[in-house]
Amino acid sequence: MCGIVGYTGSRPAGPLLFDGLQKLEYRGYDSAGIALLTPEGVQTVKNAGQKDVMALEVLAGKISLLPESVTGIGHTRWATHGRPTDANAHPHSDGSGEFAAVHNGIIENYMVLRERLQSEGCVFRSETDSEVIAHLLARHYSGDLAEALRLVLAEIEGSFAIVAMSSRHPGQLVAARQNVPLIVGAGAENEFFIASDIPAVLKETRDVYVLEDGEMAVVAGGKISFSDFAGTPRAKTTMRVTWDAVAAEKAGYEHFMLKEIDEQPRALRDTLYGRVDKSGAINLGIRAEFFSGVSRVVLVACGTAYHAGLIGRELLERWARIPAETAIASEFRYRRPLVDERTLVVAVSQSGETADTLAALREARKSGARVLAVTNVVGSTAAREADEVLFTWAGPEIAVASTKAYTTQLEIMVLLALFLATDRGRLGREDCASILAELKALPAKIEEILARKAELQRIAAYVSKADSAFFIGRGLDWAVALEGALKLKEISYIHAEAYAAGELKHGTLALITADTPVLAVVTQKALYEKTLSNVEEVKAREGRVLAIARPDNKGLAASADEVFWLPEVSDALAPIVTIVPLQIIAYYAAVQRGNHVDKPRNLAKTVTTE
Ligand code: F6R
Repeated sequence: MCGIVGYTGSRPAGPLLFDGLQKLEYRGYDSAGIALLTPEGVQTVKNAGQKDVMALEVLAGKISLLPESVTGIGHTRWATHGRPTDANAHPHSDGSGEFAAVHNGIIENYMVLRERLQSEGCVFRSETDSEVIAHLLARHYSGDLAEALRLVLAEIEGSFAIVAMSSRHPGQLVAARQNVPLIVGAGAENEFFIASDIPAVLKETRDVYVLEDGEMAVVAGGKISFSDFAGTPRAKTTMRVTWDAVAAEKAGYEHFMLKEIDEQPRALRDTLYGRVDKSGAINLGIRAEFFSGVSRVVLVACGTAYHAGLIGRELLERWARIPAETAIASEFRYRRPLVDERTLVVAVSQSGETADTLAALREARKSGARVLAVTNVVGSTAAREADEVLFTWAGPEIAVASTKAYTTQLEIMVLLALFLATDRGRLGREDCASILAELKALPAKIEEILARKAELQRIAAYVSKADSAFFIGRGLDWAVALEGALKLKEISYIHAEAYAAGELKHGTLALITADTPVLAVVTQKALYEKTLSNVEEVKAREGRVLAIARPDNKGLAASADEVFWLPEVSDALAPIVTIVPLQIIAYYAAVQRGNHVDKPRNLAKTVTTE
């Protein structure tokens, strides 16, 4: 995934573009670049990151080399085709240096196009799929840049957001979107800001056009026009962004991840707000017919969102007694799933832009299923393509490692399962009311945990020295263990695996040594004794057990090396609380190891490639 920006107006474009790129760094950060339009042609600076210096930091030192200009484009990259090198960084230009483009997505037929262009004499300077766009623009140009882009769009296949410009058209930017997000912000002074995501433009404007798939935008001379790829004009109106730009900033924290961990009580309160009415009934804001006759639920998602889906499945079956399954989105679409109009497919995605999840969502729609998106991003593709949406109101999540999005996804899972359970008469009003009362009280319990970071820092100091760690748990604790292991591996780079505790003895115990931390999640009352015997198995092999447990599991104190006692919480809601200490342990372990916590190596915040 990559982040793209564009600016045209009357102010110096370089600093504005750089500012936008900084806001988009979460989308990719292995290389970055800016190109400006000047009367002499396109002037570009671009580079990959260097050892321990992020690409944007390197780029910052080069901006002053650019001449002043009021129009330009910029890009921050996460490599797909071609290594992260200076040459592969965007923007890319044609041979004459008159046309430049930035691209996010994948041009699937780029090899054929590249070979053809090379046979026609084009010299390529990068290994990327994206460079073909600049060359094709030059080939197709006959006086109208928008028309040239249209002809390029007719040739390329795949997914893309593109912004392009030419020194033949000072002040003009042309943009197109197909399956990859792109927005245009309308600034105060007859100026326009193009970007992959809203935070990049918020400092300058709150009035934003969201491009749809198959749409183009042309901005020039303080005016904007939209069309489809065939050139038929489209009318669009701006949407007003009401959330605060400051919310997307670090607010004094060293890392976004810790800030976002600390924001969880607020995020959970916001997500619950307005969803339970005065009479205690759950109001999801979704028309009743949408759920009627649903006989099965399939939750599709990737990574952390998939782990949230695992908990959703369990609660749906437990409370609503509806058969439910959770599927990894990238697997779901290829297995010809049994999905029909009585199936509710729930696509869970923080960004609402994850390519695999969107593909699963589309597959489900094709099969006639009803599709509900659970997402954190208003205006995201998932939100727009699903039949219904439940937003998590976590606010922008910037750190690559997901924290507040996960806990708010869990909260939505609880609400959805309770809604269906009561709607179908599977759960009495009183039981539902008591679960909701506990749900409302969870933020305060999480605040208690957040005040005890020093205890978790001690555990993290130990974990940070390990080469490998295991997470174990049963039932819902196992689902939380999976998420705890993912958090640790993605930011600390320690090999971490989660096991259903009962599975240890079927092979994994062979890996347990005195140097292997085993993080045991022990919150489920009915499974407590069983998990305790798995803890004993680890201790018998000299493994070191660090447990996260409910206060009534006091017997653990004798077996585990260290126990972090959770506040009192019921079995069903325990995951929302239990994950918090595991997030904090992962965070401090990564800090101890000196890693880039918010931007771990090889990863990107939103994965728009399949
Ligand atoms: C891990 C993480 C990823 C995402 C996954 C799906 O911390 O954030 O595993 O959960 O890439 O992303 P979304 O939820 O945006 O679809």
